[in-house]
Amino acid sequence: MRICFVASEVAPLAKSGGLADVAGALPRHLHDQGHDIRVFMPFYSSIGTAALQMVPVEGAQNVELRLGAHAYRYSLLETQLPGSAVPLYLVHCPAVYDRSTIYTIGHDEHLRFLVLQRAALDGCQRLLFSPHIVHCNDWHTALLPMLLKTLYAWDNLFRSTRTVMSIHNIGYQGWFDAATTYDVGGNVWDLLAPETRAGGGFNWLREGVRNADAVTTVSPTYAAEIATPAGGHGLDALLRARPDGVVGILNGVDYSEWNPANDRYLKHNYSPQDLSGKAQTKRAFLDWLNLPVAADAPLLGMVTRLTVQKGIDLLFTTLPEIIATCDLSCVVLGTGDARYEGFFASLQQRFPDRVVFHRGYSEELAHLIEAASDMFLMPSLYEPCGLNQMYSLKYGTVPIVRRTGGLADSVQHWDAATRRGTGIVFNDYDAPAVRWALHTALDLFKNREGWLQMMRNAMAQDFSWDRQSRQYVELYEKLYQQPIAARP
Ligand code: ADP
Ligand code: GLC
Repeated sequence: MRICFVASEVAPLAKSGGLADVAGALPRHLHDQGHDIRVFMPFYSSIGTAALQMVPVEGAQNVELRLGAHAYRYSLLETQLPGSAVPLYLVHCPAVYDRSTIYTIGHDEHLRFLVLQRAALDGCQRLLFSPHIVHCNDWHTALLPMLLKTLYAWDNLFRSTRTVMSIHNIGYQGWFDAATTYDVGGNVWDLLAPETRAGGGFNWLREGVRNADAVTTVSPTYAAEIATPAGGHGLDALLRARPDGVVGILNGVDYSEWNPANDRYLKHNYSPQDLSGKAQTKRAFLDWLNLPVAADAPLLGMVTRLTVQKGIDLLFTTLPEIIATCDLSCVVLGTGDARYEGFFASLQQRFPDRVVFHRGYSEELAHLIEAASDMFLMPSLYEPCGLNQMYSLKYGTVPIVRRTGGLADSVQHWDAATRRGTGIVFNDYDAPAVRWALHTALDLFKNREGWLQMMRNAMAQDFSWDRQSRQYVELYEKLYQQPIAARP
């Protein structure tokens, strides 16, 4: 199939979270299965170009683009998704992408991602690429289905194009002032949600859900959660109204990046057959961190964006209390809201021999924490999929997770009677539940033989993209066989 895949972040070129991991891996696997997939993303000024061979796309240089009263010029540069032959088109428009971060809170944020979406569809035209599927990801690309029904409806190139809207996180919807609808251009007015036409805000993700041929999200449990008032962030009624519902497809793991047997950041690689490298990694890591912790005492890891979604509030009382009374050390990598950064910084100050907090973003540290830790904590308030718990499983680092979204779909609670299970799973979003989970983990850790079994169970799990990507192909094929939705 011919697929146009558009995303605001794609690993390894630009990443703030799991969306980039997915956008960097899924296209590669679809390409390996023989599909003609083209990826479009912004050419942020932070993207290192030394290792990229970029070729200007003929006929797509210095293109003028008018968005309402704003005029831009952009060029398309073709390269390949690193480590693959997947064509990747970078939208070069310094006026909107020459910023210090991927996302901004500037007045032109909607224009930045309008440029991306218009350049992607214009790019298909200039490349004479007629996609069977346009695959949108999160709010940044959620207007593509509406653009195809309006501004691009005249073009036969898109006559049989179907659209897929993937929701990676319904907590971010792209809300803009209603006046910005003018910047989209064309005849979108009649298609807009009644709330927007009545002067309410312009919600991009809502338009994606209303106009896409299929809506997916990144785990089956999250698909059910976002169709309820408690999980839908205001979009649940719209999701429930879709006759075909929301398709939940669990994300995969890129095991060429996340595998302790060949992880390029590890000096001591290891596998389920020989775990000695994990112990060596832990020892070396503790030394490097300057933590005077016995090698057989448990180390708890966290790697996370520090936002309310990630459940850090639950740790404010529980973690200091457990560190003060139990034999537990922690290493935390993350950046985000000041109050969470402040919490971990003060935890480190209070327990300098037991806690290390690294504020910031580091690929290398993320890999080292996965490999060196014994346990990995994700107490999320909600979690569409979550990737770190799946990385943890592969690294034999027992995940401690709350039963929500993709965490519920990827970790099974340990059962001592059957010796089945891959982690510790707690239900309630409250401090007693987290306290229970941490104490349970610490107790289980003392039984070396049971713990080893849990590690082996975890490491035997397979969440490879090879498997998960086939579910997207099935969906694409099903959509393609359905009659096309009526277009004005
Ligand atoms: P989310 O997308 O909600 O942040 P995921 O679990 O899906 O959550 O993905 C997070 C991804 O971002 C993982 O690959 C994780 O290792 C990475 N990550 C998050 N914070 C950091 C950080 N501070 N440094 C390095 N990698 C990080
Ligand atoms: C979002 C979600 C996360 C998911 C990722 C990739 O950032 O918060 O749970 O794994 O997208 O789909």
